[in-house]
Amino acid sequence: MKELSLNILDIAQNSLRANSTHIEIDLTEDKTSLCFTIRDDGCGMTPEFLSRVTDPFSTTRTTRSVGLGLPFLKMQAEMTGGCFSIESKAKQISPELHGTVVSATFIKTHIDFIPLGNIVDTLCALVMGAGEVDVTFVHRMPEREVSFSTREMREMLGEGIPLSAPEVIAWLREYLLDAYAAA
Ligand SMILES: Nc1ncnc2c1ncn2[C@@H]1O[C@H](COP(=O)(O)OP(=O)(O)O)[C@@H](O)[C@H]1O
Ligand SMILES: [Mg+2]
Repeated sequence: MKELSLNILDIAQNSLRANSTHIEIDLTEDKTSLCFTIRDDGCGMTPEFLSRVTDPFSTTRTTRSVGLGLPFLKMQAEMTGGCFSIESKAKQISPELHGTVVSATFIKTHIDFIPLGNIVDTLCALVMGAGEVDVTFVHRMPEREVSFSTREMREMLGEGIPLSAPEVIAWLREYLLDAYAAA
């Protein structure tokens, strides 16, 4: 993949498929590293499944595109001298508190580092496809941060206006573009 933001979208799509109600994306950057964490409250994975999940042949899907998924993210992060971790609690084992946390750290100065790319369009695509699922995003940079929460957007918009409405997505895009331009 040519953009790290597509990795973020791919991992968030795992969370959507896991029937999460809330997905939190946390992106923290400094001069030399970029770290992202994606946390969900979805169905989670059993320890047995989790131990195999970074194996490129482990999927519950019947079709997949090559070059995506957890094994690829792990490889990409480690190629830059960074690291990858995943923790998960399965709903069937822990009915009260379940979900998954995926973290990846990239070393930005490494030759194999892939830039973040178009994070604004990626986030808009995610919100457009998320339906009722809430998304919280924060991007911490040395000087400032960019953030949004679909829960707050829903409160602002009131009942009956889906976040996937073109005007809402257009507003989110403008909001994020302005926030990044000021950053
Ligand atoms: N956040 C998640 N919650 C629950 N299960 C997950 C999550 N992320 C990944 N999985 C499980 O791990 C498998 C492998 O994920 P991934 O490497 O992204 O490949 P793919 O999504 O193409 O199957 C998925 O098919 C799914 O069963
Ligand atoms: Mg996937």
